[in-house]
Amino acid sequence: MESRLILYIAASLDGYIAGKDGSIRFLDETPGPSPDLDYEDFYRSLQAVIMGGNTYRQIKNELSPGKWPYEGMPCYVCTRRKDQSDPNVCFTSLPPGRPLLDFVSSRHPGNIWLLGGGEIIRCFMYGNLIDRYCIYVMPTVLGSGIPLFPAGFPKTSLKLESCRKIGEIVELAYQKRDCAGTPPPSKLPPK
Ligand SMILES: NC(=O)c1ccc[n+]([C@@H]2O[C@H](COP(=O)([O-])OP(=O)(O)OC[C@H]3O[C@@H](n4cnc5c(N)ncnc54)[C@H](OP(=O)(O)O)[C@@H]3O)[C@@H](O)[C@H]2O)c1
Repeated sequence: MESRLILYIAASLDGYIAGKDGSIRFLDETPGPSPDLDYEDFYRSLQAVIMGGNTYRQIKNELSPGKWPYEGMPCYVCTRRKDQSDPNVCFTSLPPGRPLLDFVSSRHPGNIWLLGGGEIIRCFMYGNLIDRYCIYVMPTVLGSGIPLFPAGFPKTSLKLESCRKIGEIVELAYQKRDCAGTPPPSKLPPK
């Protein structure tokens, strides 16, 4: 089975996944009924999760202390820190990008959730390794924070798959295009 790397993440209207201090309080501030983000179906489709060290520590220490929310799901945490242990996750110093993706795919073929955060997303953007982007745009303009796509990767052209209004949230789904980027003008077909 082929693996697919899926970025499934919520962001502010101005493209931040967290405030400057790392807070994601804005995600809970949307008024109205709790939106159905198809999370349960998405989660059931997964074989593994990849996340960065900062995201891991926030989940473990602040968002869900005492209970790991992805129990039973193979979770790979990118970190350069040594001597960490947690029975719920696998710490890895494999470079986030092709080496880690090949490692995880070979063990858990199927859908792999790229959970975030920004630093790790940039590493996978660099090699155009994300197959599907599922972005939930919240009705909040943060003004500053941790960008969804921090600079440092080549231009990446995507194919819009769907666009859905869920309450006050917009779900944008994109697919990777087979060839990344736009060809230079000299390579464009004559008009
Ligand atoms: N809105 C959402 O849905 C959503 C989803 C996910 C995350 N977030 C937010 O994203 C923020 C965290 O994002 P972030 O960009 O600060 O950090 P991040 O991407 O979660 O993690 C960065 C960390 O990954 C590790 N790392 C980076 N490059 C590496 C490499 N080449 N090899 C091995 N390990 C490497 C390092 O961990 P060590 O320091 O351990 O070495 C680094 O500090 C949090 O505030 C979180 O709330 C939001």
